[in-house]
Amino acid sequence: MDGGTGPLRHVPVMAEEVLNFSKKEGLFLDATAGTGGHMLTLLENTQAKVVGLDIDLSSLRIAARNLRGFEGRFMLVNGDMKTVKNLFKTKFDLILFDFGLSSFQLEDEKKGFSFRKEGPLDMRFGRKGITAREFLENVSVEELAKILRKYGDLPNAKVIARDIKKKLPKTTLELALVVRKRSPRRKGHKFVARVFQAIRMAINEEEENVKLGIEGGIELLKKDGRLIFITYHSGEEKRALEVIKERNDVKLLTKKPVRPGKEEIKRNPRARSAHLRVLEKL
Ligand SMILES: C[S@@+](CC[C@H](N)C(=O)[O-])C[C@H]1O[C@@H](n2cnc3c(N)ncnc32)[C@H](O)[C@@H]1O
Repeated sequence: MDGGTGPLRHVPVMAEEVLNFSKKEGLFLDATAGTGGHMLTLLENTQAKVVGLDIDLSSLRIAARNLRGFEGRFMLVNGDMKTVKNLFKTKFDLILFDFGLSSFQLEDEKKGFSFRKEGPLDMRFGRKGITAREFLENVSVEELAKILRKYGDLPNAKVIARDIKKKLPKTTLELALVVRKRSPRRKGHKFVARVFQAIRMAINEEEENVKLGIEGGIELLKKDGRLIFITYHSGEEKRALEVIKERNDVKLLTKKPVRPGKEEIKRNPRARSAHLRVLEKL
């Protein structure tokens, strides 16, 4: 597979903007490498060496294939962004975070992220931690409702939480069906997507990892080094900005989030909720 088309190809979000804010050489870290979309852009358009980190080994295997031809300029590391500070002894000129999940992960039914494909209720990015199914078994209705509200913005979170706990679905399609039954007719898709997003964010502790990742990333930046991050959820963005506000060793270069252009959103609907921000180490 050449990484050209098909499920192995995750189209990098706001690649042009990432490149515009990027340094042109040095040592870069892509802390959410995935299948290597942004890494490829950086390798093709700068002189830098790029380290790619991801918690998902299966994504990195594909990244290695997609980056063929750039041997000697990149390295892939399987690890967790929440410990990023301790993973590297060296400092970087550029660090990139592109939070959330990739198209490759969404398409792989065994990972259980998709509400369109039958699969186990797993939803873990890596292999550690509890699965979505185990989480649903152990969480209370109240706690689940809180999570659906917080990460999924669901108006009828309590009713959906109660139904999920009652049915305790084992598979993705079973969960989707429970939610669909409680969703307004035209909003079925939207509600199911939000429930999946909320459960995924909870079991992978995504909001907390945004905080730990960015904190660790700042520690790993050289002076004048840049950290670019792309969030897809307002809670995550807020958390990231809180981290930055508390520090006096970084400067935010983008007061307002940089948004993808209309053309990109048309080409790649995944990009529609993306907010990109850049900070510089003082
Ligand atoms: C949106 S994708 C990145 C796609 C990539 N930028 C590209 O263009 O191909 C986000 C990636 O973050 C990874 N990820 C999620 N949580 C992580 C964590 N705690 N530590 C490291 N990587 C993580 C996911 O496995 C996923 O591959």
